[in-house]
Amino acid sequence: MLAALKSYALDGLIGYQVDVEIDINNGLPGYELVGLASTATKESKERVRSAIKNSGYMYPAKRIIVNLAPADTKKDGPFFDTAIAIGLLAATGQIEGKLYKDYVFIGELSLDGKLRPIDGIMPLIISAMQDGHKKFIIPAENATEASFITGIEVYALSSLRDVVDMMSGVIYEPVAASDYASARVNHPYTVDFADVKGQTVAKRALEIAVAGGHNALMIGPPGAGKTMLAKCVPTIMPDMTFEEAIEVTKVHSIAGILDSNIGIVTTRPFRSPHHTTTVPALVGGGLKARPGEVSLANHGVLFLDEMPEYTRHALETLRQPLEDRKVCVSRVMRTVEYPANFMLIASMNPCPCGNYGAKDQICRCTPQQIHNYIGKLSGPLMDRIDLQIEVDNISYDDLRGGHTAESSAKIKERVDRVRALERERFKGLGIRTNAEMGPREIAKYCAIDKDGERLLEKAFQKLGLSARGTTRILKVARTIADIEGCENIQPAHLAEAIQYRGVDRKYH
Ligand SMILES: Nc1ncnc2c1ncn2[C@@H]1O[C@H](COP(=O)(O)OP(=O)(O)OP(=O)(O)O)[C@@H](O)[C@H]1O
Ligand SMILES: [Mg+2]
Repeated sequence: MLAALKSYALDGLIGYQVDVEIDINNGLPGYELVGLASTATKESKERVRSAIKNSGYMYPAKRIIVNLAPADTKKDGPFFDTAIAIGLLAATGQIEGKLYKDYVFIGELSLDGKLRPIDGIMPLIISAMQDGHKKFIIPAENATEASFITGIEVYALSSLRDVVDMMSGVIYEPVAASDYASARVNHPYTVDFADVKGQTVAKRALEIAVAGGHNALMIGPPGAGKTMLAKCVPTIMPDMTFEEAIEVTKVHSIAGILDSNIGIVTTRPFRSPHHTTTVPALVGGGLKARPGEVSLANHGVLFLDEMPEYTRHALETLRQPLEDRKVCVSRVMRTVEYPANFMLIASMNPCPCGNYGAKDQICRCTPQQIHNYIGKLSGPLMDRIDLQIEVDNISYDDLRGGHTAESSAKIKERVDRVRALERERFKGLGIRTNAEMGPREIAKYCAIDKDGERLLEKAFQKLGLSARGTTRILKVARTIADIEGCENIQPAHLAEAIQYRGVDRKYH
């Protein structure tokens, strides 16, 4: 007897159909799995057998051949257990009828016959839906995550018995659709710009950074509030759209860090990997070609605290995703691509003791030590940082004077206004922010007058700017003009953008 069922597997974020064929014949009892299965997939044999027996069904003492097609793609993961088990029961006549042909089965089995949740339900179902599939059987614990995808019928079941019952005609209710708007939490942050005293220059620069999607580096003495400021960045970022939320959720889902009770990521990611982090953990990779921090931070913030403490190799590998906003991770025989459209926010002390250039503090480092410290950040990396922000110690009066600072909500209103402007400007171009502009958009939207041209030329000579550095200044100037509500970039906007460049030169 033969049975054929549909399942899905993942290649990076892309799901592809896997046909599961089960053939049972009267040869010597045995189990053979063909179709380039990885070790994890091969182990399905033991899981399926125990699950079938422990659910009270008969496991055939015959020759069983399981074929996973297409034969030329490597199958990884435990996604096919349910399909194999149902196929076995159908091929041995323990399930009547061919109802199972209408469904895509995704799920791992536990030895006692429960359906165990799997990572990556969202990307799997979205791909299957795009291929035209409409009905899915998935593990119960993956229900919430699947409930945000509309236009399909998802049945989230908890055991192999339930699946068998349903395939035999018992009626189950499909998962009810969830609403993104009601899943969102209002201001889920524990920090707020209102709590940060003083630091008006740094706050202004961070507002520009968020408004235009620019990268920023804060340089200053210990305890000035750099880490605190960075943590406030997500509080002024625009709310995530549903599309962005889905893109973020897909990556978090395959990385296995999605909260299955919420099922969707509704706040912008803020990832702060420790400086001892490995290169694969940062950019992705390893045996399973997992997404790294740069991809987990997609549509959000990647925060590198104490940037020079990261290994040079780790920092250099950031150059490519910073430029391309995506990252290619290689694995055996092929590469997978993950999105990496993040805002880089970094912080550092200007020297090993931390006090160089700070007011009322004495630096104990030698010029050579100071030079070496900032030298840990290579020229090409610094070139990719749009805003370099000097953060100095605040005065006692600022700290204790009882002045009230602007709240994150107020700043966010301005950011939202500028982002709306950018959306309108780049409609249909696949660009969201000023930082993402290519040469064509820069030529169109970053025109400057004669005075501006002179200013830029002077900065070019004085700061030894690269072509990239120059275009980045223009983009930041565009954002400043947008914040000020000006159609054209004026010399003052350009001057402010230039100010945020070349701060590192002070320390060389
Ligand atoms: N501007 C500020 N307003 C209010 N509190 C502040 C400010 N700056 C620092 N603090 C207080 O000091 C603490 C330490 O600040 P933070 O960790 O941000 O400093 P840092 O600049 O990152 O220092 P380091 O270089 O040592 O990492 C904060 O948690 C906060 O309580
Ligand atoms: Mg800090």
